[in-house]
Amino acid sequence: MKFPVKIFLFGALSAAVITFLWRDPTFSEESLKGAKVLVTGASTGIGEQMAYHYARLGAQIVITARRENVLKEVVKKCLDLGAQKALYIPVDMAIPADVDRVVEFAEKQLDGLDYIVLNHIGPSPYQMWDGDVDHIRWLMQVNFHSYVQMAVKALPALEKSKGSVVVVSSMLGKMCSPFALPYIATKFALNGFFGSLQHELAMKQSNVSISICNLGLIDTDSAMEKIKGYIDMTPYPAHEAAWQIIKAGALRQSEAFYPSYVYYGVLFRDWFPSFRDQIIRSSYNYQP
Ligand SMILES: NC(=O)c1ccc[n+]([C@@H]2O[C@H](COP(=O)([O-])OP(=O)(O)OC[C@H]3O[C@@H](n4cnc5c(N)ncnc54)[C@H](OP(=O)(O)O)[C@@H]3O)[C@@H](O)[C@H]2O)c1
Repeated sequence: MKFPVKIFLFGALSAAVITFLWRDPTFSEESLKGAKVLVTGASTGIGEQMAYHYARLGAQIVITARRENVLKEVVKKCLDLGAQKALYIPVDMAIPADVDRVVEFAEKQLDGLDYIVLNHIGPSPYQMWDGDVDHIRWLMQVNFHSYVQMAVKALPALEKSKGSVVVVSSMLGKMCSPFALPYIATKFALNGFFGSLQHELAMKQSNVSISICNLGLIDTDSAMEKIKGYIDMTPYPAHEAAWQIIKAGALRQSEAFYPSYVYYGVLFRDWFPSFRDQIIRSSYNYQP
């Protein structure tokens, strides 16, 4: 065989292997029909979109957030879209006793649990950190401790059903950045805790899978409002982010990244640290 032909064949084979390895995995949508799902932070944003996707797939869902009137509307739409069951429970994740009530309610109403999708976040200012330690304590309770509490409470039911904990995290749980220090601290905590729990569950041969979903900028109202004037960046659609999270849970993927730039950002994060930091700082509009 001539040398150029060999090179061409080698190139074609490499491209085929890369395409195969990087193919977008698919899952059986049918597998979510009747699935017993709890979604937190589902009154708006990505959580609301997840509720609608699960509903279209015929799942049985319990949604939660603080605003009862909004949850009521989301439940109505879920039933219209085809959810086998759709219920809500209004709670404040800043109150530990409320957190337990959510899992108890979902387990009882759905007669078990297949997925808990931990997605809610408490409001936090987008600005240079003002030294407010109390806010960090409060946000840790809402964005981190409540996730841990719910996962622990749901584990026995998920063990029985070979179920999954799906944790919605962020690129900012992997990479430091200015203007959102309390939020970023909670997301690093989530990635550290649930990433380590993945190891322990695997070592104990548990039936439960944990999927950690790291998102980039998504076009929810709250995110768009926060970054206005600070950074010019194209956001990705919330309904697609929601679908990717559902897919990661259904496929029992240990980690997922959406959009793909998040994966490459994390992959190359530590290669050239001072270059990385320069890019991060210069991408924000800030005058001291
Ligand atoms: N949007 C992005 O650019 C982006 C990027 C990376 C990661 N993420 C992650 O994606 C997830 C969803 O983000 P999002 O932009 O969709 O958020 P969002 O639109 O601000 O929605 C937050 C949800 O949490 C609920 N919530 C707020 N405080 C609560 C409390 N104390 N107790 C119970 N529920 C509470 C809100 O409902 P109520 O107000 O009714 O309580 C709402 O349903 C988060 O985990 C976030 O970190 C988002």
